[in-house]
Amino acid sequence: MAALVLVGAQWGDEGKGKITDFASSRADMVVRSMGGNNAGHTVETGGVCYKLHLIPSGILYPEKQNILGNGMVIDPVALVGEMDYLQKQGISVDNLFISDRAHLVFAYHRELDGLSEEARGAGDIGTTKKGIGPAYMDKMERIGIRVCDMTDRDAFSALIKRNIAIKNTLLTELYGHVPVDEEALLAEVMAARERLLPHVADTSAMINTAIRAGRKVLFEGAQGTLLDIDLGTYPYVTSSYPTAGGVTIGSGVGPTAIDRVMGVAKAYTTRVGKGPFPTELHDETGQAIRDKGHEYGTTTGRPRRCGWLDGVILRYAARVNGITGLCLTRLDTLGGFDTVKVCTAYDMEGISVTDFPARLKDLAKCAPVYTELKGWTSDISHIRDFDGLPREAKEYVAFIEEMTGIPVDMVSVGAGREETILRGDIF
Ligand code: IMP
Repeated sequence: MAALVLVGAQWGDEGKGKITDFASSRADMVVRSMGGNNAGHTVETGGVCYKLHLIPSGILYPEKQNILGNGMVIDPVALVGEMDYLQKQGISVDNLFISDRAHLVFAYHRELDGLSEEARGAGDIGTTKKGIGPAYMDKMERIGIRVCDMTDRDAFSALIKRNIAIKNTLLTELYGHVPVDEEALLAEVMAARERLLPHVADTSAMINTAIRAGRKVLFEGAQGTLLDIDLGTYPYVTSSYPTAGGVTIGSGVGPTAIDRVMGVAKAYTTRVGKGPFPTELHDETGQAIRDKGHEYGTTTGRPRRCGWLDGVILRYAARVNGITGLCLTRLDTLGGFDTVKVCTAYDMEGISVTDFPARLKDLAKCAPVYTELKGWTSDISHIRDFDGLPREAKEYVAFIEEMTGIPVDMVSVGAGREETILRGDIF
């Protein structure tokens, strides 16, 4: 199995950081294809907790190659900050490669992200305000500035100045905001440029060469299926393609290169930001899950909305990503309840809905239809083999397999690397 895609099967924050780290230990190369530092991965290893936003989790293994793919939007200043953070902890970034075709995020993107959110008022999306949407807007408008543009310092500077002029008009005339300081922006970006240039490469060529040579390539997921600009809960989505299809475009590999797609799903559901969420729990059970699962955003610190597992979403994610195996995370967090519920369908004003609706107005009308299962003891984090799990926890997993028609290949029972139950060869 040479190329494995990890994809978030819900609204992001499925615990992909840890699973990526686990899969990274078996990979030769780890690739990110989409998004930017809106993502937040927490990886706990050797008693140290690493928070990563741009750099693939494979960086924690010195011998692995780590790639920021062409589909990403990269904030050069944030990337240098993350490299510094890792280096201070003794982690080498020598094996970090940045696609020459990736787009760059600048201060004006961050400003515009915040201002457009403010202008939306109550209808705001709840973005991370990292400038991701505005940077993808520039890319699609074909005025984006790419990593390869950094090569020629003067031409790079001219492109930035051109865009600052455009953005400052927007900032001042449309939003009545102060303009971006050209000198300050150029100074911080040029300092970052020096640090980043040695890492720039034609990463599509690197990835394809690795796959052809039979090396193991892991495409780590960011965000999640329902945050996909096409397939997610539009407009409450990110501006890229975090689904499996996005990996091929965002890394410069063909679909035939992918062998396996693992969907990562929490044993329950969470969501950051706005938009309908059928299984959301507004009661003490929701708060208990939030507290026990430390459900607060890695990037923004915002409390995550919590609810029971939604099978309609899982089946949808399986379909649109071509998921071949599931990884169920946080099974330990769901322990300690007398009963646990799984949503198997929605009741939309008397109509039974089994396929995830496109219209948010429809989704907002959907009430979950639950199957209630017996709960299990909260302390399962020491268990390493599936048969050792409490019977009720195994029944919960079996229920999910039957509901989705997808095998659960992996179960995570804690934040640590070792708190993982593997049921087959994933990679
Ligand atoms: P943006 O990606 O910052 O534009 O935010 C758009 C939506 O995606 C917001 O609801 C964010 O909270 C959500 N989002 C973006 N990245 C992540 C992530 O890594 N995990 C969870 N939600 C995310």
